[in-house]
Amino acid sequence: MKKAKIATSIMIIAAFVVFGSIVFADMPGPDPDALWNYITKVSPYKKWSFWPDHQGMQPGRAPHGPLHKVYVNDRALNSVRPPVQYGSIAVKENYDKAKELKAITVMYKVNGFNPKDGDWFWAKYTLDGKAGPFGKPQGCIGCHGTRAKNDFITVHEFK
Ligand code: HEC
Repeated sequence: MKKAKIATSIMIIAAFVVFGSIVFADMPGPDPDALWNYITKVSPYKKWSFWPDHQGMQPGRAPHGPLHKVYVNDRALNSVRPPVQYGSIAVKENYDKAKELKAITVMYKVNGFNPKDGDWFWAKYTLDGKAGPFGKPQGCIGCHGTRAKNDFITVHEFK
């Protein structure tokens, strides 16, 4: 009887571990290539949403392009207040004046990656997925850091 109980407990715990890894299995680590693969193949960002207060193409400021679109995944979209949930991703397409796509910049919230600056993994990509800078670039953090209370997010206001 006792053995059976222990066996049942082990099975329940194992089920949780397996379930947990299925839920988070497809999220990439803080790695530029894994993140690029995720946003282009595993969960193509163009199928994501826009923030309700920042839809479609919008004018932007330097250092980003003069026009942009910002896509967010469900975890970001469903975050009611800052900080957003871990696993949140914002993908920004940067366009020139002629509306030609020039670069992709990404923010990805990774638990424990950089706790003192909001745990964001930052990356700038060329259109074929070459990253640089990426990780914890002081440039990205310094400027977005002025919005730390809004979890470093600039185009959406949490109420
Ligand atoms: C000098 C300030 C500044 C720097 C440096 C900067 N950003 Fe931004 N970022 C902005 C502003 C302003 C916006 C709002 C959209 C716009 O104006 O283009 C923005 C928007 C974004 C967004 C859309 C999500 C959001 O709402 O914040 C992403 C993703 C992003 N930046 C990534 C980066 C990355 C990656 C870097 C570093 C390689 C970087 N940014 C460097 C000012 C900056």
